[in-house]
Amino acid sequence: MTQRKRIFSGIQSTGIPTLGSFLGAISNWEKLSAEYDCLFCVVDLHAITVRQDPKELRKYGREMLAWLIALGLDPEKSILYYQSHVSAHAELSWILNCFTYMGELNRMAQFKMKSAKNEENINAGLYSYPVLQAADILLYQTNMVPVGEDQRQHIELCRDVAGRFNKIYGDIFTIPDAYIPPVGAKIMSLQNPTEKMSKSDDNLNACIYLSDSTDTVIKKFKRAVTDSDNFVKFSEEKPGISNLLTIYACMTGKKIAECEATFADAGYGAFKQAVGEAVAQNIAPYQAEHARLMSDPAELDAIAARGAEKAAASAEKTLSKVKESIGFVI
Ligand code: TYM
Repeated sequence: MTQRKRIFSGIQSTGIPTLGSFLGAISNWEKLSAEYDCLFCVVDLHAITVRQDPKELRKYGREMLAWLIALGLDPEKSILYYQSHVSAHAELSWILNCFTYMGELNRMAQFKMKSAKNEENINAGLYSYPVLQAADILLYQTNMVPVGEDQRQHIELCRDVAGRFNKIYGDIFTIPDAYIPPVGAKIMSLQNPTEKMSKSDDNLNACIYLSDSTDTVIKKFKRAVTDSDNFVKFSEEKPGISNLLTIYACMTGKKIAECEATFADAGYGAFKQAVGEAVAQNIAPYQAEHARLMSDPAELDAIAARGAEKAAASAEKTLSKVKESIGFVI
Protein backbone atom coordinates (compact mmCIF):
# COMPACT_ATOMS: atom_id res chain seq x y z
CA MET A 1 0.00 0.00 0.00
CA THR A 2 1.37 3.43 -0.87
CA GLN A 3 1.59 5.86 2.02
CA ARG A 4 -0.87 8.73 1.94
CA LYS A 5 0.62 12.18 1.44
CA ARG A 6 0.79 14.38 4.46
CA ILE A 7 -0.81 17.73 5.17
CA PHE A 8 0.06 20.12 7.98
CA SER A 9 -1.55 23.44 8.75
CA GLY A 10 -2.06 25.70 11.73
CA ILE A 11 -4.19 28.50 13.10
CA GLN A 12 -3.47 30.92 15.91
CA SER A 13 -5.50 30.70 19.09
CA THR A 14 -6.01 34.43 19.41
CA GLY A 15 -9.77 34.62 18.95
CA ILE A 16 -12.79 33.30 17.15
CA PRO A 17 -12.10 32.18 13.57
CA THR A 18 -13.24 34.60 10.90
CA LEU A 19 -15.01 34.02 7.62
CA GLY A 20 -11.56 34.66 6.07
CA SER A 21 -9.77 31.86 7.93
CA PHE A 22 -12.75 29.57 7.27
CA LEU A 23 -12.85 30.14 3.49
CA GLY A 24 -9.10 30.60 2.97
CA ALA A 25 -8.00 27.66 5.07
CA ILE A 26 -10.25 25.54 7.32
CA SER A 27 -12.88 24.69 4.69
CA ASN A 28 -10.07 23.33 2.49
CA TRP A 29 -8.56 21.39 5.39
CA GLU A 30 -11.91 19.70 5.75
CA LYS A 31 -12.09 18.85 2.03
CA LEU A 32 -8.51 17.60 1.84
CA SER A 33 -8.70 15.55 5.02
CA ALA A 34 -10.52 12.74 3.21
CA GLU A 35 -7.53 12.08 0.96
CA TYR A 36 -4.50 13.03 3.05
CA ASP A 37 -2.89 12.11 6.30
CA CYS A 38 -3.46 15.37 8.22
CA LEU A 39 -2.21 17.28 11.23
CA PHE A 40 -3.98 20.48 12.24
CA CYS A 41 -2.43 22.48 15.00
CA VAL A 42 -3.68 25.29 17.23
CA VAL A 43 -0.49 27.35 17.20
CA ASP A 44 -0.41 28.83 20.68
CA LEU A 45 3.38 29.35 20.64
CA HIS A 46 2.92 31.63 17.65
CA ALA A 47 0.13 33.48 19.45
CA ILE A 48 2.41 34.83 22.19
CA THR A 49 4.50 36.88 19.76
CA VAL A 50 1.83 39.46 20.56
CA ARG A 51 1.04 39.99 24.28
CA GLN A 52 -1.91 37.80 25.35
CA ASP A 53 -4.01 37.72 28.48
CA PRO A 54 -3.46 34.21 30.00
CA LYS A 55 -7.15 33.56 30.71
CA GLU A 56 -8.17 34.62 27.21
CA LEU A 57 -5.42 32.62 25.55
CA ARG A 58 -6.52 29.44 27.33
CA LYS A 59 -10.18 30.13 26.58
CA TYR A 60 -9.53 30.82 22.90
CA GLY A 61 -7.25 27.78 22.63
CA ARG A 62 -10.08 25.44 23.62
CA GLU A 63 -12.56 27.44 21.57
CA MET A 64 -10.39 27.08 18.50
CA LEU A 65 -10.06 23.34 18.92
CA ALA A 66 -13.84 23.11 19.25
CA TRP A 67 -14.28 25.23 16.10
CA LEU A 68 -11.98 22.99 14.09
CA ILE A 69 -14.02 19.95 15.06
CA ALA A 70 -17.34 21.76 14.57
CA LEU A 71 -16.21 22.81 11.09
CA GLY A 72 -15.78 19.18 10.12
CA LEU A 73 -12.30 18.02 11.12
CA ASP A 74 -12.67 14.56 12.60
CA PRO A 75 -10.23 13.93 15.47
CA GLU A 76 -10.44 10.20 14.75
CA LYS A 77 -9.07 10.78 11.25
CA SER A 78 -6.86 13.87 11.57
CA ILE A 79 -4.41 14.72 14.33
CA LEU A 80 -5.65 17.82 16.19
CA TYR A 81 -3.48 19.28 18.94
CA TYR A 82 -1.96 22.33 20.63
CA GLN A 83 1.51 23.35 19.47
CA SER A 84 2.71 23.95 23.05
CA HIS A 85 1.99 20.28 23.89
CA VAL A 86 4.70 19.05 21.52
CA SER A 87 8.06 20.45 22.56
CA ALA A 88 9.74 19.32 19.34
CA HIS A 89 8.32 22.43 17.62
CA ALA A 90 10.35 24.77 19.82
CA GLU A 91 13.43 22.55 19.63
CA LEU A 92 13.51 22.31 15.84
CA SER A 93 12.74 26.01 15.63
CA TRP A 94 15.97 26.82 17.50
CA ILE A 95 17.97 24.60 15.18
CA LEU A 96 16.40 26.14 12.05
CA ASN A 97 17.10 29.63 13.41
CA CYS A 98 20.75 28.77 12.85
CA PHE A 99 20.00 28.07 9.17
CA THR A 100 17.87 31.15 8.43
CA TYR A 101 19.39 34.46 7.41
CA MET A 102 18.36 37.75 8.97
CA GLY A 103 18.11 39.12 5.43
CA GLU A 104 15.37 36.57 4.75
CA LEU A 105 13.43 37.45 7.89
CA ASN A 106 13.82 41.18 7.20
CA ARG A 107 11.84 40.69 4.01
CA MET A 108 8.80 39.10 5.66
CA ALA A 109 5.71 41.24 5.00
CA GLN A 110 3.90 39.94 8.09
CA PHE A 111 6.78 40.94 10.36
CA LYS A 112 6.84 44.42 8.88
CA MET A 113 3.10 44.79 9.30
CA LYS A 114 2.90 43.35 12.81
CA SER A 115 5.86 45.37 14.06
CA ALA A 116 4.29 48.56 12.69
CA LYS A 117 1.13 47.69 14.67
CA ASN A 118 3.01 46.74 17.90
CA GLU A 119 5.73 49.34 18.12
CA GLU A 120 6.04 48.91 21.88
CA ASN A 121 6.68 45.14 21.63
CA ILE A 122 8.79 44.26 18.59
CA ASN A 123 10.18 41.10 20.18
CA ALA A 124 12.59 38.49 18.83
CA GLY A 125 9.76 35.95 18.65
CA LEU A 126 7.82 38.15 16.26
CA TYR A 127 10.93 38.34 14.11
CA SER A 128 11.69 34.62 14.05
CA TYR A 129 7.99 33.62 13.83
CA PRO A 130 8.42 32.22 10.27
CA VAL A 131 11.20 29.92 11.50
CA LEU A 132 8.86 28.36 14.06
CA GLN A 133 6.33 28.00 11.27
CA ALA A 134 8.93 26.20 9.15
CA ALA A 135 9.67 23.89 12.08
CA ASP A 136 5.94 23.12 12.43
CA ILE A 137 5.78 22.02 8.82
CA LEU A 138 9.14 20.25 8.46
CA LEU A 139 8.81 18.20 11.66
CA TYR A 140 6.12 16.08 10.01
CA GLN A 141 7.69 15.53 6.58
CA THR A 142 4.76 17.49 5.19
CA ASN A 143 3.95 17.35 1.47
CA MET A 144 1.33 20.07 1.33
CA VAL A 145 0.37 23.10 3.43
CA PRO A 146 -3.13 24.47 2.81
CA VAL A 147 -3.15 28.17 3.70
CA GLY A 148 -4.50 31.54 2.64
CA GLU A 149 -2.60 33.90 0.36
CA ASP A 150 -1.05 35.82 3.28
CA GLN A 151 1.01 32.76 4.26
CA ARG A 152 2.58 32.21 0.83
CA GLN A 153 5.80 34.04 1.72
CA HIS A 154 6.24 31.99 4.92
CA ILE A 155 5.89 28.72 3.02
CA GLU A 156 8.46 29.92 0.46
CA LEU A 157 10.88 30.65 3.29
CA CYS A 158 10.21 27.22 4.78
CA ARG A 159 11.08 25.61 1.44
CA ASP A 160 14.29 27.65 1.19
CA VAL A 161 15.43 26.76 4.71
CA ALA A 162 14.62 23.06 4.19
CA GLY A 163 16.49 23.03 0.88
CA ARG A 164 19.51 24.69 2.50
CA PHE A 165 19.52 22.19 5.35
CA ASN A 166 19.16 19.22 2.98
CA LYS A 167 22.01 20.50 0.83
CA ILE A 168 24.35 20.38 3.81
CA TYR A 169 23.13 17.25 5.61
CA GLY A 170 21.40 15.09 3.00
CA ASP A 171 17.75 14.31 2.47
CA ILE A 172 16.41 15.11 5.93
CA PHE A 173 13.28 17.16 5.20
CA THR A 174 10.48 16.75 2.65
CA ILE A 175 10.13 20.01 0.72
CA PRO A 176 6.48 21.07 1.12
CA ASP A 177 4.21 22.75 -1.41
CA ALA A 178 1.72 25.43 -0.47
CA TYR A 179 -1.91 24.77 -1.36
CA ILE A 180 -3.62 28.11 -1.92
CA PRO A 181 -7.24 27.87 -3.09
CA PRO A 182 -8.16 29.44 -6.44
CA VAL A 183 -11.15 31.26 -4.89
CA GLY A 184 -11.27 32.57 -1.31
CA ALA A 185 -7.51 32.71 -0.63
CA LYS A 186 -7.80 36.34 0.44
CA ILE A 187 -11.12 37.44 1.88
CA MET A 188 -11.06 41.19 2.32
CA SER A 189 -12.31 43.49 5.08
CA LEU A 190 -15.97 44.47 4.67
CA GLN A 191 -15.09 48.05 5.60
CA ASN A 192 -11.86 48.44 3.66
CA PRO A 193 -11.90 45.94 0.81
CA THR A 194 -8.29 46.61 -0.17
CA GLU A 195 -7.17 45.07 3.15
CA LYS A 196 -7.39 41.48 4.35
CA MET A 197 -10.25 40.55 6.70
CA SER A 198 -8.58 40.18 10.06
CA LYS A 199 -9.84 39.25 13.52
CA SER A 200 -7.73 42.02 15.04
CA ASP A 201 -9.49 44.78 13.07
CA ASP A 202 -10.63 47.57 15.39
CA ASN A 203 -13.75 48.11 13.29
CA LEU A 204 -16.10 45.27 14.29
CA ASN A 205 -18.12 45.72 11.09
CA ALA A 206 -15.05 44.83 9.01
CA CYS A 207 -14.94 41.19 10.01
CA ILE A 208 -17.40 38.30 10.19
CA TYR A 209 -16.71 36.00 13.13
CA LEU A 210 -18.05 32.47 12.85
CA SER A 211 -19.89 33.08 16.13
CA ASP A 212 -21.83 36.09 14.77
CA SER A 213 -25.63 35.79 14.98
CA THR A 214 -27.74 35.83 11.80
CA ASP A 215 -28.80 39.43 12.51
CA THR A 216 -25.21 40.57 13.02
CA VAL A 217 -24.03 38.85 9.84
CA ILE A 218 -26.79 40.43 7.78
CA LYS A 219 -26.19 43.88 9.31
CA LYS A 220 -22.45 43.67 8.64
CA PHE A 221 -23.03 42.77 4.99
CA LYS A 222 -25.60 45.55 4.61
CA ARG A 223 -22.96 48.02 5.82
CA ALA A 224 -20.21 46.56 3.62
CA VAL A 225 -18.30 49.25 1.73
CA THR A 226 -18.76 48.92 -2.04
CA ASP A 227 -18.70 51.59 -4.77
CA SER A 228 -20.95 54.19 -6.26
CA ASP A 229 -22.25 52.44 -9.35
CA ASN A 230 -24.83 49.72 -8.95
CA PHE A 231 -23.50 46.90 -11.08
CA VAL A 232 -22.62 43.47 -9.60
CA LYS A 233 -19.43 42.64 -11.48
CA PHE A 234 -16.09 41.12 -10.49
CA SER A 235 -13.35 43.59 -11.32
CA GLU A 236 -10.14 45.06 -9.89
CA GLU A 237 -11.80 48.48 -9.85
CA LYS A 238 -14.60 47.10 -7.67
CA PRO A 239 -12.81 45.47 -4.71
CA GLY A 240 -15.86 45.58 -2.39
CA ILE A 241 -18.26 43.94 -4.85
CA SER A 242 -15.58 41.47 -5.97
CA ASN A 243 -15.05 40.42 -2.35
CA LEU A 244 -18.78 39.90 -1.84
CA LEU A 245 -18.98 37.88 -5.07
CA THR A 246 -16.08 35.72 -3.88
CA ILE A 247 -17.80 35.10 -0.56
CA TYR A 248 -21.10 34.29 -2.25
CA ALA A 249 -19.38 31.92 -4.70
CA CYS A 250 -17.63 30.09 -1.83
CA MET A 251 -20.86 29.83 0.15
CA THR A 252 -22.96 28.48 -2.71
CA GLY A 253 -20.33 26.49 -4.62
CA LYS A 254 -21.19 28.49 -7.78
CA LYS A 255 -18.73 30.02 -10.25
CA ILE A 256 -18.18 33.80 -10.04
CA ALA A 257 -19.71 34.26 -13.53
CA GLU A 258 -22.89 32.44 -12.43
CA CYS A 259 -23.15 34.68 -9.37
CA GLU A 260 -22.71 37.78 -11.54
CA ALA A 261 -25.50 36.53 -13.79
CA THR A 262 -27.82 35.84 -10.84
CA PHE A 263 -27.46 39.43 -9.61
CA ALA A 264 -27.18 41.18 -12.98
CA ASP A 265 -30.50 42.97 -12.49
CA ALA A 266 -30.38 43.26 -8.72
CA GLY A 267 -29.26 46.41 -6.94
CA TYR A 268 -26.49 46.37 -4.33
CA GLY A 269 -29.04 46.28 -1.50
CA ALA A 270 -30.59 42.99 -2.64
CA PHE A 271 -27.16 41.53 -3.45
CA LYS A 272 -25.75 42.36 0.00
CA GLN A 273 -28.84 40.90 1.65
CA ALA A 274 -28.40 37.64 -0.34
CA VAL A 275 -24.70 37.36 0.57
CA GLY A 276 -25.49 37.97 4.26
CA GLU A 277 -28.23 35.33 4.23
CA ALA A 278 -26.03 32.78 2.46
CA VAL A 279 -23.27 33.26 5.04
CA ALA A 280 -25.62 33.20 8.03
CA GLN A 281 -27.35 30.03 6.81
CA ASN A 282 -24.03 28.36 6.16
CA ILE A 283 -22.49 29.04 9.56
CA ALA A 284 -25.54 28.45 11.79
CA PRO A 285 -25.16 24.63 11.99
CA TYR A 286 -21.46 25.01 12.87
CA GLN A 287 -22.39 27.33 15.73
CA ALA A 288 -24.75 24.76 17.20
CA GLU A 289 -22.10 22.05 16.98
CA HIS A 290 -19.49 24.37 18.51
CA ALA A 291 -21.77 25.08 21.48
CA ARG A 292 -22.28 21.34 21.99
CA LEU A 293 -18.54 20.66 21.94
CA MET A 294 -17.78 23.54 24.33
CA SER A 295 -20.15 22.03 26.88
CA ASP A 296 -17.66 19.21 27.43
CA PRO A 297 -14.19 20.74 27.95
CA ALA A 298 -12.85 17.49 29.44
CA GLU A 299 -13.56 15.72 26.16
CA LEU A 300 -11.85 18.52 24.20
CA ASP A 301 -8.78 18.21 26.44
CA ALA A 302 -8.77 14.44 25.94
CA ILE A 303 -8.89 14.90 22.15
CA ALA A 304 -5.96 17.33 22.33
CA ALA A 305 -3.97 14.98 24.55
CA ARG A 306 -4.44 12.07 22.13
CA GLY A 307 -3.52 14.34 19.24
CA ALA A 308 -0.35 15.58 20.95
CA GLU A 309 0.74 12.04 21.71
CA LYS A 310 0.47 11.01 18.05
CA ALA A 311 2.05 14.24 16.81
CA ALA A 312 4.96 13.94 19.25
CA ALA A 313 5.73 10.39 18.15
CA SER A 314 5.91 11.51 14.52
CA ALA A 315 7.87 14.71 15.30
CA GLU A 316 10.43 12.80 17.35
CA LYS A 317 11.44 10.73 14.32
CA THR A 318 12.37 13.83 12.32
CA LEU A 319 14.01 15.53 15.26
CA SER A 320 16.24 12.50 15.90
CA LYS A 321 17.29 12.47 12.25
CA VAL A 322 18.07 16.18 12.43
CA LYS A 323 20.12 15.86 15.63
CA GLU A 324 22.07 12.95 14.31
CA SER A 325 22.83 14.65 11.02
CA ILE A 326 24.02 17.83 12.72
CA GLY A 327 26.47 15.89 14.88
CA PHE A 328 24.98 16.11 18.36
CA VAL A 329 26.13 13.28 20.61
CA ILE A 330 23.30 10.78 20.56
P1 TYM B 1 -3.68 32.64 11.01
O1 TYM B 1 -4.03 32.11 12.35
O2 TYM B 1 -3.52 34.12 10.86
O3 TYM B 1 -4.75 32.19 9.94
C1 TYM B 1 -5.12 30.82 9.79
C2 TYM B 1 -5.33 30.49 8.32
O4 TYM B 1 -6.37 31.30 7.78
C3 TYM B 1 -5.94 31.98 6.62
N1 TYM B 1 -6.59 33.31 6.61
C4 TYM B 1 -7.24 33.80 5.56
N2 TYM B 1 -7.49 33.30 4.33
C5 TYM B 1 -8.20 34.07 3.47
N3 TYM B 1 -8.65 35.32 3.78
C6 TYM B 1 -8.42 35.86 4.99
N4 TYM B 1 -8.87 37.08 5.28
C7 TYM B 1 -7.68 35.09 5.95
N5 TYM B 1 -7.30 35.32 7.23
C8 TYM B 1 -6.63 34.21 7.62
C9 TYM B 1 -4.43 32.12 6.79
O5 TYM B 1 -3.80 32.28 5.55
C10 TYM B 1 -4.08 30.80 7.45
O6 TYM B 1 -3.93 29.77 6.49
N6 TYM B 1 1.22 31.75 10.63
C11 TYM B 1 -0.09 31.17 10.48
C12 TYM B 1 -0.33 29.94 11.34
C13 TYM B 1 0.70 28.86 11.23
C14 TYM B 1 0.82 27.93 10.17
C15 TYM B 1 1.93 27.10 10.53
C16 TYM B 1 0.14 27.73 8.96
C17 TYM B 1 1.66 28.59 12.13
N7 TYM B 1 2.41 27.52 11.73
C18 TYM B 1 2.34 26.07 9.69
C19 TYM B 1 0.57 26.70 8.14
C20 TYM B 1 1.65 25.88 8.50
C21 TYM B 1 -1.13 32.19 10.86
O7 TYM B 1 -0.86 33.13 11.59
O8 TYM B 1 -2.39 31.91 10.43
